[in-house]
Amino acid sequence: MMRIYLDYNASAPVVPEAVAATTAALSDRFGNPSSVHYFGQQARAVLDDARDEVAALIGAEPVEVVFTSGGTEADNLAIRGVAEAAASRGRRHVVATAIEHEAVLHTVRELSRRGCDVTLLPVDASGIVDPSALASAIRPDTALVTVMHANNEVGTLQPVAELAALAHEAGAVFHTDAVQTVGRIAVDVRALGADLLSLSGHKLGAPKGIGALWVRRGTKLAPLMTGGRQERNRRPGTENVPAAAGLGAAARVARNTLAEQGPRVAALRDRLDAGVLAGVPGAAINGNPARRIPGTSNISFEGVEAEALLIALDLEGVAVSTGSACSSGTLEPSHVLRAMGLGAHRVQSALRFSLGAGTTAEEIDRVVTLLPDLVTRIRSRSGRAVGPSRR
Ligand SMILES: Cc1ncc(COP(=O)(O)O)c(C=O)c1O
Repeated sequence: MMRIYLDYNASAPVVPEAVAATTAALSDRFGNPSSVHYFGQQARAVLDDARDEVAALIGAEPVEVVFTSGGTEADNLAIRGVAEAAASRGRRHVVATAIEHEAVLHTVRELSRRGCDVTLLPVDASGIVDPSALASAIRPDTALVTVMHANNEVGTLQPVAELAALAHEAGAVFHTDAVQTVGRIAVDVRALGADLLSLSGHKLGAPKGIGALWVRRGTKLAPLMTGGRQERNRRPGTENVPAAAGLGAAARVARNTLAEQGPRVAALRDRLDAGVLAGVPGAAINGNPARRIPGTSNISFEGVEAEALLIALDLEGVAVSTGSACSSGTLEPSHVLRAMGLGAHRVQSALRFSLGAGTTAEEIDRVVTLLPDLVTRIRSRSGRAVGPSRR
């Protein structure tokens, strides 16, 4: 069976360059990068190269890059680290949005249990935060504003530079979860104006279990853990050198191919949208078609239970998702689509298609050909009739 992977937002295939770099580091560079001797310095060199590559991908200085175990840890380090450092200065208010990934949402919820005041900003029907909502939410005691660069379920891009400027006017620190954008669109930390930025290896062709937090020089941040002096005292513990090597290699590949891949993947995504809207009555695109990352399309199929369609597609060899991988399987309706004000039916019938560097036009055409019949079959089982498609 032809297997078609359209779940890049959950995890992307590891690029051969990352496999090679990780394997080489695993077998040949086993020393502890903190050791003074030859073996240690060999491992240190691998880590330094990887840091240079990650920094180059996001327009940062290598000393500002802190390796973590992934996006979740980077988010935790940014949010808890800033909140702790700011508490001593009397700032105990944190602002996030209602559509953040659980790595952010559950972290700010934990802060609120520990005495922080948390404000969750609303989004409009297309999933975008209105900067004026931040302007009214921000207070003299705001420690941190955290707004994701692009949403993992609908792909909507936020006006991060504008939001960061508002945070800075109030003396607050600005963090962005850029897990879904780094490696997929051009990301420049200076242009974004953020103080902290999270990224994750496995979304951009590196192994799982590695990520990074970019920390602008001078940002006050308390570490999450106690231990050694690794990562300039920001993240103790012997570094995951092989995985970091993979991240470095994947970052280099992304930097070299991004300008060509971005538009190519966006065109395939648009081909999918157009094909689905033309072929499936009662289909509707969720999110903002004009302000999305290239590879993401979230589509509701009126009168269809999303899980049923996901399983039907899987039986045909097509892998998609009902939202974020963490919430799928729980049958909990997407907090993102609900925050966008979509009705229960539209939320329960939503599937996320996420494309990437390996996606081909042939694969998209196969999915577009398959969907009308699968949808009709599911609808006839539940006795649903539907109207025309909407954008
Ligand atoms: C927006 C966003 N933030 C954070 C994460 C968590 O990253 P990781 O899986 O590397 O912990 C994800 C992954 O699903 C994500 O999509």
